[in-house]
Amino acid sequence: MNRQLAAVILAAGQGTRMKSDIPKVLHAVGGRPMLSQVVQIARALDARPVVPVIGHGAELVRSTLHSEGLTFVVQDQQLGTGHALQCTEPALKGFSGDLLLLCGDVPLLREATLRSLLAHHQKTGASVTTLTAEMADPTGYGRIIRGPSGVELIVEEKDATDAQRQVREINTGIYLFRAPQVFAFLRRLDNRNAQGEYYLTDVVAAARQAGERVEALLVADAQETMGINDRVQLAEADCIMRRRINTFHQRAGVTLVDPAATYIGQEVAIGPDTLVHPGAHLRGRTTIGRACEIEPGVVVTDCTIGDRVHLKPGSVLSESTIGNACAVGPMAHLRPGTVLAGNNKIGNFVETKKAVIGEKSQASHLTYIGDATLGKNVNIGCGTITCNYDGVNKYQTTIEDDVFVGSDTQFIAPVTIGRGSLIGAGSTITRDVPPNALAIARSEQKNIEGWAEKNRKKKSKTSEK
Ligand code: UD1
Ligand code: CA
Repeated sequence: MNRQLAAVILAAGQGTRMKSDIPKVLHAVGGRPMLSQVVQIARALDARPVVPVIGHGAELVRSTLHSEGLTFVVQDQQLGTGHALQCTEPALKGFSGDLLLLCGDVPLLREATLRSLLAHHQKTGASVTTLTAEMADPTGYGRIIRGPSGVELIVEEKDATDAQRQVREINTGIYLFRAPQVFAFLRRLDNRNAQGEYYLTDVVAAARQAGERVEALLVADAQETMGINDRVQLAEADCIMRRRINTFHQRAGVTLVDPAATYIGQEVAIGPDTLVHPGAHLRGRTTIGRACEIEPGVVVTDCTIGDRVHLKPGSVLSESTIGNACAVGPMAHLRPGTVLAGNNKIGNFVETKKAVIGEKSQASHLTYIGDATLGKNVNIGCGTITCNYDGVNKYQTTIEDDVFVGSDTQFIAPVTIGRGSLIGAGSTITRDVPPNALAIARSEQKNIEGWAEKNRKKKSKTSEK
């Protein structure tokens, strides 16, 4: 029978070696704060409640993760890992299942590993099950001291004998306990040790004294339990996470030209036969279809992108929807609310915002389209601007199907351009244009014969004097 599961995440420490004004657990791995990453692992196991123990920068941690439905517990003084867990007792009052203990600075754990830990814990009926790792160099870690009937003791490096220091099986700091039993053991802890701290690891000896069984499960890949203490390790963890995500996409049929230099968020979905070049950043809730090409320096955030879309170098797209077979960029900026119906071309130095653009319409160069609705087959000439803002309000521009807009046109919104009409280049359009009309709005040209030549002569005489 499966018992209920709750999770406690230790995250009160300062993280001095990060040399940072923000708490360590808010530094990002895989595009999200480490603590969120760990919360997600706990959630994947259906742990409830999820209780982060916070201390340093508590308010910032709380406000950053406010929407994640967590039960925060504040540990005012960091008196040790045992004390940290003790602080959660009131929050877990009445809970009598298994208690998973995680660390906010160990972000690479896999769900499958914790499922094995849970299965082992439940199968053996242990009071405590710790996740352990074999280390070539175990320096600094707590050592696992095994006896004939399971684990006898975890001894910290600073408290260990020379013989104990030879042990290479270390405590990763991830455990399963039984609530409320563990809180009874915690009450018996003291801080008479080399660091003057209340050690969570001492729960092991307390459980053994009470005649309980303590188990250890060796993790297959020690990399998963890597703790982050400084920015070098932060970058290493980020790199490992990136490799995991990218490998997943490669196996699903996505070509990554250089996976080490391709940055894909954890929630991004990509269809097969899509080709992603180095330096692309795909972020947030982005979905990309099949057979697309994403070129270097493209940044996509929270977009839905269809099939056979070509995003050319340096383009930036946010909160936009791109239909099939569109070409965007190079260096186009598609801001929130852009919707391209399909087969559109948005060329270099074109910016769009809240722009709904019909099938096959195109704006190939140097244009701003904001607060606008364009029909099908509209051609927007180079240098066109929708003047949507009078300093106070925003106004709509509507351009119906099959309109041809000459270069260097300004639309002074609100304005509607009727279907099939043609706008002469250089026009400043202030009034609606009826369907199929020609609109030209620029002052007429005047040619003054010989003027330039006369002017040149006059100037050269003055300079002779
Ligand atoms: C701890 C273990 C050690 C293990 C190692 C794995 C103890 C006594 N030792 O040692 O056996 O090998 O982790 O990395 O538990 N924290 C709090 N409040 C506190 C103290 C710590 O929230 O009062 C948090 C820290 O922010 C950190 C985690 O607990 O996230 C571990 O604390 P840390 O001081 O790094 O423990 P270690 O000495 O590394
Ligand atoms: Ca540590």
